[in-house]
Amino acid sequence: MTDAELLHYITTTDAEEAEDLYAKARAVREKQYGRDVYFRGLIEFTSFCKNDCLYCGIRRGNARAERYRLTKEHILECCRTGDALGFRTFVLQGGEDQYFTDEKMTEIVRAIRSQFPDHAITLSIGERSRESYEALFAAGANRYLLRHETASEAHYRAMHPAAMKLSSRKDCLFTLRKIGFQTGAGFMVGSPFQTPECLLEDLRFLEELQPHMVGIGPFIPASNTPFAGYPAGSEERTLRMIALTRLLLPRTLLPATTALGTLAGDGREKAMCAGANVVMPNLSPVNVRKLYSLYDNKICTGDEAAECLRCMSLRIKATGFVPSMARGDSLV
Ligand code: 5AD
Ligand code: FES
Repeated sequence: MTDAELLHYITTTDAEEAEDLYAKARAVREKQYGRDVYFRGLIEFTSFCKNDCLYCGIRRGNARAERYRLTKEHILECCRTGDALGFRTFVLQGGEDQYFTDEKMTEIVRAIRSQFPDHAITLSIGERSRESYEALFAAGANRYLLRHETASEAHYRAMHPAAMKLSSRKDCLFTLRKIGFQTGAGFMVGSPFQTPECLLEDLRFLEELQPHMVGIGPFIPASNTPFAGYPAGSEERTLRMIALTRLLLPRTLLPATTALGTLAGDGREKAMCAGANVVMPNLSPVNVRKLYSLYDNKICTGDEAAECLRCMSLRIKATGFVPSMARGDSLV
C-alpha cells in the first residue's frame, strides 16, 4: 500500500470501509494461523521503574503509585499455577527495575526454564545492554516484548524525558531480533500529540523490523501522570491499526490487548475480528494486580487467574474463534 492509501485507512470514518478492512485482515489471519487464539500467562512481577514516560502510571515520578516486587519463589509459584491451568507461555513483565540485575534476572529465567523445559519464556523488562539480552537468552528466555511506542522522533520526544531515545529503543529491538529472540514491538493509538503521519511511520517501521509480534492498544489516561488529562485513543482507529498491521505483516502475532478491553467491553473480541490472534490473561497474584496500574480502570484486576482463563475462552468461542493453549510460536 502507498503512504496515501495507508493514511486514508488510518483516518477513514467510513464504517463500511472499516468493516471491509477487518474482513480482509481476518481472511489473512485465517490463512496464516487458522482460527486459533493463543493464550499467554502474564506475570507483572515489579512495578518499580527508573523511567519517567509521561503517559505511564508506574513512571518514577508518580509518588502515588504503590510499588511491589515479587520474589523468585513467588514468580515460580505464578508459573506453577499457570502451568496447572494449561498455559505454555509465561510473560514476565515489569518496569525497568534496577533491583533485577542480570544476575538476578538470569537466575529467575534459569529456574523457570529448569522447571518448565517446554514452555516459552517471554520477557518484557525494557531496554538493557546487548550483554544483558545475550545472558537472558542463554539462560533460556525465548521471546522479548519491547514496544517502540512511536516510530516518530518528534512524537517520541513529546512522550518521554530527554534521557530516553527512540534510537536506543530501535537498536534494542534489532539487537533482540539478531540474538534470536522472537521479538515484539508495538505502539499506542491516540497518545497525546500523535498524528496520522506518526501511525504511518509506525507501520513503515514494523515493515522494516519484521517483528514476530506487535502489541497495539489505545492510550488510556493514567491518574497522577502529566498526560492524565488527555483523552483516550479511539477504539475504531486502534482496530484499523490492528487490521493494517495484519495486512502488512501477515505472519506476525497480534494480541487483543487488555487496554482495548478496558476502553470497550467487547474491544478484545473486535480485535480478534480485525486480525488479532493472541490474548494475555493475568497470572499475577490477585493482591498486586491493582498496583500494576499503567493506566486507569484496567480490567481483570479482581478475578482469580482461573476466572480470566474461563472468561477469555468463552469470549473467544462466542466470537467464532478457537482458544488454544499451544505455545503458539510466531510464523515470522
Ligand atoms: N495507556 C495505554 N497503554 C499504556 N502503556 C503504558 N502506559 C499506558 C497508557 N497510559 C503501555 C505501553 C507499554 C505497555 C507495557 O503498556 O505501550 O509498552
Ligand atoms: Fe479477565 Fe474476562 S479476561 S475477567
